[in-house]
Amino acid sequence: MIIAKTVDEVRKYVNAWRKEGFTIGLVPTMGYLHEGHASLVDKAVSMCDKVVASDFVNPTQFGPGEDLESYPRDFEHDCQLLEQHGCSLVFYPSVDEMYPDGNGKTDTYIEILDDMPKQLCGKTRPIHFRGVCTVVGKLFNIVMPDKAFFGQKDAQQLAIIKRMVRDLSYGIEIVGCPIVREEDGLAKSSRNTYLNPEERQAALCLSKAIFAGEKMAKDGEKDADKIVAAMKEIIEKEPLAKIDYVSAVNGITMATVSKIEGETLFAMAVYIGKTRLIDNFIYSV
Ligand code: PAF
Repeated sequence: MIIAKTVDEVRKYVNAWRKEGFTIGLVPTMGYLHEGHASLVDKAVSMCDKVVASDFVNPTQFGPGEDLESYPRDFEHDCQLLEQHGCSLVFYPSVDEMYPDGNGKTDTYIEILDDMPKQLCGKTRPIHFRGVCTVVGKLFNIVMPDKAFFGQKDAQQLAIIKRMVRDLSYGIEIVGCPIVREEDGLAKSSRNTYLNPEERQAALCLSKAIFAGEKMAKDGEKDADKIVAAMKEIIEKEPLAKIDYVSAVNGITMATVSKIEGETLFAMAVYIGKTRLIDNFIYSV
């Protein structure tokens, strides 16, 4: 597997592959990879001739007081996982390589101006999706992939990236991949590593609420508010949990809904101690 640290190096390889007629898949990541990321790479390998993964903790998507500095990093382990799963190239840039103005700052952003990035996670993380769109847009410009792969766990991010690709005519197919869970149900996340054993146990209230909500929907409950209330009740029983939001929204626009119609996203963000975790399910009728 090739390790490329500069934009020029990545371009050299992907241009050569394109000339040979290879299709290219991109898996953007912030590193500290787990089976969830591995499933994205597996999907990309199954659909593309060459797979590029990026491994970059993107400063522009972290707000003041968030976990940019403490975000877990282990590049050696990331390389092992990527190589085992058939990744062709990992792009591991420095902050200055991605943001030449220095200090992880830029004056040029990609931002969706309607309410979509202001809902759900956007309420408490107002600059988050602007940073995500900016870095993903840059990665698209650098790699120019045919397809790009994102986890359904970040459902709002996935919807926003699809919207950005449509609005800016990127011509890249966005492939959403299912949430990967631990055996006991907790959605895999690099941030799970912040949890102490007591918190790790408490964190199961998220997946319990997700499974209970999903069952209600499958059993025919159409009242989204009732499902949200039942999910909240489960989380509120856990003393270490503090709800940021539990909401039902339209799966494409992220607008709040009270009834299940079309594609409905039930999403939550919950603090377990100081760690903010997210989870969701989509129900389509
Ligand atoms: O989902 C993530 O890990 C990040 O938001 C992404 C898409 C790699 C952009 O930094």
